[in-house]
Amino acid sequence: MNIHWLKITESTNKDAWAGRDSAQDGTVWCAEYQSAGRGQRGNRWESAAGENLMFSILFKPRRMRAADQFVLSQVCAVGVARYLKEKGIAPVYVKWPNDVYVASRKVCGMLLENAVSGDTLSVCVAGIGINVNQVSFPPELPNPTSVLLSLGGGGAVPARMDLREELGMVLEHILGLYGRIGEDGRVPGLDQEYGAMLFRLGEEAWYEETEYFTGGQVHRFRGCIVGVEKETARLVVRHGDGRPVKYYFKEIKYIL
Ligand code: BTN
Repeated sequence: MNIHWLKITESTNKDAWAGRDSAQDGTVWCAEYQSAGRGQRGNRWESAAGENLMFSILFKPRRMRAADQFVLSQVCAVGVARYLKEKGIAPVYVKWPNDVYVASRKVCGMLLENAVSGDTLSVCVAGIGINVNQVSFPPELPNPTSVLLSLGGGGAVPARMDLREELGMVLEHILGLYGRIGEDGRVPGLDQEYGAMLFRLGEEAWYEETEYFTGGQVHRFRGCIVGVEKETARLVVRHGDGRPVKYYFKEIKYIL
């Protein structure tokens, strides 16, 4: 494995982008601390220094259609989920598109940034933050947890984990799945494994949808996730009146 270990950096996603031309497919940048960590929806990713895993993987897939880019999200999310299960943690869910949860708490977030040329995905930087050793979190985070807290199961907190060892385990799962992407741009069985782990699958819960075509109005509703559309990776949610509605990422928010 080709891993650059950094004491401090702005964002490992930024480092991976900077190295995209010269570095090999599968190269990893991992930092002990990020001064400007990037999160989803333009948020910052804050993480205590030296406690957690913050890393980015550079993917330079050969002949992957831009339309298949969600496969890389699935590879990373299922890879992290498999790592947690290997450690004996349960229940593990993937909150569409690629957060990883233990029960109702977030243990991992991802930010995938893609470069497309024509109809081909040329580069993907997959930035992954996994809470590993942190046991207390800022109050503004709605529902965080860590690997250590999940292993403790509410009882005594186990011993601190070695971040290099944990990274090695996670990468084995992610890069193993990545290596199994076939000529058709897919990994056999991955859709099923991802689909079976969907957070809130078949459960009624609250969501917010944003209607961009009516000027960004937000509407709260109760719905039930029925799956992810294979061709477009949209989340399919059945509303109370029985209508299945399909959403792209910024169009729906889970109420936690
Ligand atoms: C989220 O908002 O849930 C996504 C968080 C992604 C954080 C990771 S940490 C490593 C990589 N570098 C960044 O700046 N962000 C990602």
